[in-house]
Amino acid sequence: MNYIGSKLSLLEFLENSINKVVDPEKNGAGKKCRVFCDLFAGTGIVGNYFKKKGYKIIANDIQYYSFVLNKHYIENHKELKFLRLAKKLSELKNIKTGNRKDFVCDYLENLKGIKGFIYKNYCLGGTKNKEIQRQYFSNANGMKCDAIRQKIEEWKKEKLINDNEYYFLLASLIESIDKCANTASVYGAFLKKLKKSAQKSFVLQPAELIINDQEHKVYNKDINVLTKKIKGDILYLDPPYNHRQYASNYHILETIAKYDNPKIHGKTGLRNCANQKSLYCSRVEAKNAFKDLISKANAKYVFLSYNNEGIMSLKDIKKIMSLRGKYGYFTKKYNRFKADRDKNRNYKANKTTEYLHYVVCN
Ligand SMILES: C[S@@+](CC[C@H](N)C(=O)[O-])C[C@H]1O[C@@H](n2cnc3c(N)ncnc32)[C@H](O)[C@@H]1O
Repeated sequence: MNYIGSKLSLLEFLENSINKVVDPEKNGAGKKCRVFCDLFAGTGIVGNYFKKKGYKIIANDIQYYSFVLNKHYIENHKELKFLRLAKKLSELKNIKTGNRKDFVCDYLENLKGIKGFIYKNYCLGGTKNKEIQRQYFSNANGMKCDAIRQKIEEWKKEKLINDNEYYFLLASLIESIDKCANTASVYGAFLKKLKKSAQKSFVLQPAELIINDQEHKVYNKDINVLTKKIKGDILYLDPPYNHRQYASNYHILETIAKYDNPKIHGKTGLRNCANQKSLYCSRVEAKNAFKDLISKANAKYVFLSYNNEGIMSLKDIKKIMSLRGKYGYFTKKYNRFKADRDKNRNYKANKTTEYLHYVVCN
């Protein structure tokens, strides 16, 4: 997923740097039983990477769509067998348990579209007679999304799927529908004409499942409330760097995840997200929120991803983190997050310096 602040292309940098601090001699060996906390988890890509390396993961994010993604990518760690659904769908019974995920996604993908909340509010067909017309998805893809989302909820209500299967299906839907959104990248605006990827028929791609022996845990809380209740070995922090609120930039994914028929307003059809506004996006609040967070951190090693253009200055970060112990940092040149329309920008101007700050707590 093309997510603001995604660490997808920085994973090795993160791992190598973290190993240098945590295991200077063993270069990462012996990390197996460590608890890695990824508490601004977003897409879950960082937690997922360290889960694959053998860590036990605790993940968290204030956004519900992120919680859903992490419930699957992080918490799910055993095969999904769809045992109860197989009693209802006779074709599923004959499929090997290892292949059932693909079959169920295929089944959902082939449902007939429904004119539900997404079609009625975010597609041209559904909004054409309303005061504001919106085209976040093609009509066909919007209706498909509604049909799949409603079926997943129906199966859950009828107890035909368990929580693990539920979050797997929702995560697959969120990631797949995002691929055919008619936006430049985020949901703060839609494009006038349907772009090529938005014209393609919707494909429900099964989300990857990482099988391992560890139990993991995922939360959907404000980090400053959660942190004091959590203990880990490594606390990895990746807060927003600037004023762009995730709640408004990904509001449609939030609605697909919750499917709660919210009141929406304005040209973009924004839901009310007042209680998800992040202090880390505010020039006035970020520093105090970060200081409070660092003071509550319950881990030997605390790492912070931030760049040289963020709201908090490097001086402030150093001052705050040093309160807890020995401070240091690593850097890497990095390509800034790009929306489609920014592709023509000068390449050099798109480079920024990514920092990984750390403190080894006393
Ligand atoms: C830079 S992104 C994280 C990206 C993530 N590491 C990835 O690679 O996908 C920051 C995340 O912090 C979340 N967030 C912002 N404020 C928060 C808060 N107070 N508590 C918990 N999560 C918060 C946002 O919803 C967003 O997903």
